[in-house]
Amino acid sequence: MTIINQKHDKKVNEATHAVQNQIEDLRESQYRLHYHFTAPSSWINDPNGLIQHKGVYHLFYQHYPYGVDWGPMHWGHATSSDLVHWKHEPVALAPSEDYEYEEGNSEVGCFSGSAVSNGDELCLIYTGHVEGKSPKEVQALASSKDGIHFTKHGKNPIIAGPPADFSEDFRDPKVWKHDGTWYMVVGSSRNGNGAIPLFRSSNLVDWTYMGAALEGDGTQGDMWECPDLFPIDDKHMLIISPMNMEEGKNKIMVGDMDYEEGKFSPVSVKEIDDGFDFYAAQTFEDESGRRIMIAWMDTWETEFPTKTEGWSGAMTIPRQVILDENQEVSFLPVPELEGLREHHYFEDNLRLSSGESLDLNKHRGLEQSYELNMEITLPENQTSGRVGLELRASSDGNEKTLVYYDLMTGELVVDTTHSGKETHRGVSKTKVEVEDKLSLRLFMDVSSLEVFTADGKSWITNRIYPDSSHTGLNVYTEETDAYVEKVDTWTLKKVLN
Ligand code: FRU
Repeated sequence: MTIINQKHDKKVNEATHAVQNQIEDLRESQYRLHYHFTAPSSWINDPNGLIQHKGVYHLFYQHYPYGVDWGPMHWGHATSSDLVHWKHEPVALAPSEDYEYEEGNSEVGCFSGSAVSNGDELCLIYTGHVEGKSPKEVQALASSKDGIHFTKHGKNPIIAGPPADFSEDFRDPKVWKHDGTWYMVVGSSRNGNGAIPLFRSSNLVDWTYMGAALEGDGTQGDMWECPDLFPIDDKHMLIISPMNMEEGKNKIMVGDMDYEEGKFSPVSVKEIDDGFDFYAAQTFEDESGRRIMIAWMDTWETEFPTKTEGWSGAMTIPRQVILDENQEVSFLPVPELEGLREHHYFEDNLRLSSGESLDLNKHRGLEQSYELNMEITLPENQTSGRVGLELRASSDGNEKTLVYYDLMTGELVVDTTHSGKETHRGVSKTKVEVEDKLSLRLFMDVSSLEVFTADGKSWITNRIYPDSSHTGLNVYTEETDAYVEKVDTWTLKKVLN
């Protein structure tokens, strides 16, 4: 590093102080999540720089420490030994240099990016953004010896603007190493389609442009944010967060990477999560070789009822990315989450006839945060009807979140129309493969719900804002019988990150 940036250190200290000031008050607030990651206070969006470095898990994130709305972007920072209990660290990056900061301009900052271990050092590669400047987005490097305090590189910006034929949107670098060489993809667009220019480097500072690793075919949005290209088994995967795409917010492709040609060739593509609140997913490989994904558990087009409490935004639970022998992708919660399980309740052999509803929370042990695993057998040859759960239901039945399987359409549905306080109320759907048995799992937290099929192939993640006293949980059927083989529920401990 060529300069020690005193201006940066001062801004980092101010921001850290501002954000950690109110944490105790926030922990008691109505919608504060019990075990999902959130910042001590204020605004967060994308996860950044996910890495396990020298045994420690690091989670950085887009952060505005001075308010509940998006503002000049900083990188917040937390560390963990188990991906579940997080320790808040000082803010890692604050906008301080002319490639990421301009006096009086609020649309500036250290935008999303990634982290790599470079020998002993932890390096962050991120986008410097100054709205109105040309070019408005460049790539920058910061590094740290202790993994906590970061110094910006004297040669920044390390990539001073997009390659000639790409748009000025040029952000969210993802860096990885292959055969001793560093590679970077950056989110951008070309000819009105999402595209990811690829670069390579031997030292993280000097980068050579290699062409577009992939560009959209006209149906996949006009800009790809937060690309993540990574090896898994003998394939590669690419995650993109496309902008202005009719259907879909986060795509994952399986394919092959040709490092000589600098081309990624996808053979399949699917939506990672069909809920409203899942965006900017990022992955990293941990020291045990698992590929772990975390996403922002919100989106841009949404209300945040938590703003009145002094915070906005959270992360999903960590999910392991798995590629099976048929080259199909699935996502399973990391087993570390089982450490949160507290009281266990178990029910089995429940027979429901059409139109029936059974109370699964008779003991009233399940309140606002729990895990549920359920197996339901459906009648043979039944091609219509619904079977599902009413969650966080009020006793008068007016407030509830529905999770059901629609036998006619073959879809798993989450209906948040009556879930509570206003947000993007509506219906999320995902196709599932069910032969005769439906195996469902879900993670409920105070103001979030992640539902998925036990095979990890279909997920729906939504924020919900029910009243804290509404804890009803019923299994029900409509126009079909059903046999609930078993339901396991566990209350989950309060981690209160
Ligand atoms: C995605 C995103 C990124 C950008 C960041 C800014 O949610 O728009 O493309 O780097 O958020 O906070």
